[in-house]
Amino acid sequence: MLSAQPVIISFRILDDDCRNPFQSPSIFSFGNYNMSNATQLLHSIPVDPLTGAISVPIYQTSTFIQDAPGVNKGYDYARSNNPTRATVEMIIAQLEKGSTGIAFGSGLAAIDAVIKLLKTGDEIVAVDDIYGGAFRLFAQVYEKFGITVKYVDTTNSENVFNAVSPKTKLIWLETPTNPTLKISDIAAIAKIAKANNCLLCVDNTFASPALQLPLTLGADLVVHSATKYLGGHSDLIAGIVVTKEAALGAKIKFLQNACGAILSPFDSWLLIRGIETLHLRIKQHCINAQVVAEYLETHPLVDKVYYPGLPSHPNHAIAKKQSRGFGGIVSFSLKEDTEAAAVAFVTGTKYFLLAESLGGIKSLVSHPANMTHKSIPAHIRRSNGVTDSLIRLSVGLEEVEDLVEDLEHAFEKLSQTTGGTKKQHLPAALLQ
Ligand SMILES: Cc1ncc(COP(=O)(O)O)c(C=O)c1O
Repeated sequence: MLSAQPVIISFRILDDDCRNPFQSPSIFSFGNYNMSNATQLLHSIPVDPLTGAISVPIYQTSTFIQDAPGVNKGYDYARSNNPTRATVEMIIAQLEKGSTGIAFGSGLAAIDAVIKLLKTGDEIVAVDDIYGGAFRLFAQVYEKFGITVKYVDTTNSENVFNAVSPKTKLIWLETPTNPTLKISDIAAIAKIAKANNCLLCVDNTFASPALQLPLTLGADLVVHSATKYLGGHSDLIAGIVVTKEAALGAKIKFLQNACGAILSPFDSWLLIRGIETLHLRIKQHCINAQVVAEYLETHPLVDKVYYPGLPSHPNHAIAKKQSRGFGGIVSFSLKEDTEAAAVAFVTGTKYFLLAESLGGIKSLVSHPANMTHKSIPAHIRRSNGVTDSLIRLSVGLEEVEDLVEDLEHAFEKLSQTTGGTKKQHLPAALLQ
């Protein structure tokens, strides 16, 4: 059996000085970057006391032998608990500074578990630019059980205040949102939740605990599509819930066992392996994404660029206040706001691979209107800023010069179909 060491992780990643690394003398001069936090993370992952295995063992078993009925070594049946899964749950709870981590077979299963805390007649107030799969779950599964959802622009906390009613039992935030990277003020909305006796859940998939800790800002629950940055290598589907309080954690843990959407031992191990390098990967994702966003902002075929690290982003100030970096996702729309132009662009890149998902080491490009957000009716999608030409980049860990060049080529190809553009100036940082 694994023994978890009670190490408290202080996980500080990007300091103010490091937000725009190209303003520093070198991209490696993360002056205030505190390596001891990486040390704490890595050494909170237990070594197997039975064999000394440095890698967490994969307990690939369905059941556990008992000495007498009900007398066991802490595990009885692997849906209820499994040592490999318990280890990843402990690690992510520490990372998010919560009390309980609960691992699921997908991000949507994690979201589903949180919604199952509600009952018929309850209401959710949710961010309008919500992940399409969450929208589908709310609209096509839970509405028929009498759970209703009000969508508001949560970047203005007053909208949340005005939307909450006595029926509201849950406020649902994604920040940054997928795909327009809106930022909501977690601390301000947590106060509204507390005052109205409802729970605040933050989908922290885009930021990851390396950049943002919603539970320390007053949220009650955090969910993750661990498929993305936590896993980090595009090789698993996983979901996580972390609760601030143990009593709420016990409710989600009950649902995990009662409904059964658990994370397998092997996928738990993959997730541990991914988390081991989270801080390093996130740091480089942030560096690369900032350069890509600045490049896109200068391009004549681009209409809007959505990246919280740009001073032009409407929520830049709150992003700076509540997170330690701006993440690896950049979205942009084209001046020619058509699906055809977007499709021409997303099929014209070489390193940005066209695929659903995000947060992996390889850069990906997607067209939300046709992919992740297809399940949202077009008029709702457009009114939330997910225009026909919106393109989402998951900026990976390749050399950023190669990524910018790849985008440049795709724009050149696009301009041949849309009527010409002038050659771009590469960001100053790339010319050094
Ligand atoms: C913000 C966000 N939350 C949740 C999910 C759902 O996660 P999964 O695909 O692991 O079920 C996704 C998937 O893209 C997402 O982007």
